[in-house]
Amino acid sequence: GPEVAALVASRVVDVPDFPKPGIVFKDLMPLFSDGPVFRRMIDGIVAYHGADSFDVVAGVEARGFVIAAAMAYATGKGVVPVRKAGKLPRRTHSASYELEYGEATLEVHEDAFVAGQRVLVVDDVLATGGTAGAALELVERAGGIVSGFTVLMELSFLEGRRRLAPRTVHALLTV
Ligand code: PRP
Ligand code: MG
Repeated sequence: GPEVAALVASRVVDVPDFPKPGIVFKDLMPLFSDGPVFRRMIDGIVAYHGADSFDVVAGVEARGFVIAAAMAYATGKGVVPVRKAGKLPRRTHSASYELEYGEATLEVHEDAFVAGQRVLVVDDVLATGGTAGAALELVERAGGIVSGFTVLMELSFLEGRRRLAPRTVHALLTV
């Protein structure tokens, strides 16, 4: 609801010129270090989607892991990591994408999902949608069905959700 959005808005720290000149980094980690705030945020996300709408949570490295693990624990589901290239030990699917700054590659284990499993994809920020779009591709190549996306903050002027249509995209705060 509006209270959670206000909470996110009040805690986000804009970091100019990180990780590159001209980029304003949205640091949401102050939301993780405050226990009651973190709990309200996780409870808000879970309430929005409903525990019956997904079978497993996929977290995008690295801040997505924190949110995904808390959501999985709160709902009794499992958590699957979508990792940066070269980090996963077994056979992977791999997807490259453009960032606001440069290119990146994400990977998921080929056997990460049971075929047809409904997967909720989680990250901290949705900007251009490059990251979420790569995660979508990877989950589906690995046999999962993306039931939706959830982020703490969406930068709507970058129109990232257009790449994810027609799937549900939820943000606690949209700017
Ligand atoms: C940030 C953020 C999202 C992504 C969103 O990650 O954590 O994953 O950008 O941007 P997009 O919608 O344009 O893809 P970043 O790539 O900066 O790396 P990090 O998570 O490793 O810090
Ligand atoms: Mg990221």
